[in-house]
Amino acid sequence: MRKPPLSGIPAHIGIIMDGNGRWAKQRGLIRTQGHLEGLKAAKRIVKAASDLGVKFLTLYAFSTENWKRAVEEVSFIMGLVKQYLRAEFDFSKRNRIRVRHAGDIAGLPADIQKELAESMSNTADFEGMQVVLAINYGGRDEIVRAFRRFAATGQDMSNIGENDISAYLDNPDIPDPDLIIRSAGEYRTSNFLLWEGAYSELHVSKKLWPDWDKEDLEEAIADFRQRDRRFGSVAAGSVTAGSVTASSVQG
Ligand code: IPE
Ligand code: IPE
Ligand code: MG
Repeated sequence: MRKPPLSGIPAHIGIIMDGNGRWAKQRGLIRTQGHLEGLKAAKRIVKAASDLGVKFLTLYAFSTENWKRAVEEVSFIMGLVKQYLRAEFDFSKRNRIRVRHAGDIAGLPADIQKELAESMSNTADFEGMQVVLAINYGGRDEIVRAFRRFAATGQDMSNIGENDISAYLDNPDIPDPDLIIRSAGEYRTSNFLLWEGAYSELHVSKKLWPDWDKEDLEEAIADFRQRDRRFGSVAAGSVTAGSVTASSVQG
């Protein structure tokens, strides 16, 4: 059963799960060990977000740029993705979690494509939180693919508008993220949800991803709740008419 969200809980949270390599390095371990612990953290956060009543959780697991890494690291991450998809079905079923994907699925190894397709179809009817796994995802790549899909319909490209682009993104039915979290302290988007994140609130935490737990998610949400989201308008309660005229500003 879908739980009603607590008040002030963002409907859609995106997470840039960064810092696995640094976590391993600090302990004298190899990078893959950090990814293994990162997967455990991802499971904790999926559970925590679902319990809090978050409706959509997008997890940035592998970017279109991450192919630049050593083949051993890339195949280890792909192996973890597969393991997660296989092992988590019971958990998804118990918590009614629907699994989805964002990114260029055609560019993934065939076995991962198959596993993703199975997880998505096995959980398609679950009405709880939706977990969007961003794997082989790049914000620019998603926008390019949206343009290509639009062009393939034969519609006139010269009249393309924002709503058309939104409609051909990977998951057009999912609302834009309210909050984007990045672990491990870097202040950049690294190509995550470029289009959808136009008005997302950002929360950067120094904590490395493998150390993340429910309290860190709660802290990010508490931070989000302090924000004044204006979407280009003005703060509630501000004086908008008659206080300052254009000529007094130009002075
Ligand atoms: C994030 O951790 C996981 C992926 C990008 C797959 P990193 O592997 O980027 O960890 P750092 O940034 O090197 O610490
Ligand atoms: C972003 O982390 C990608 C994911 C978390 C999957 P990166 O570690 O790849 O980003 P950069 O290289 O620090 O920008
Ligand atoms: Mg990183």
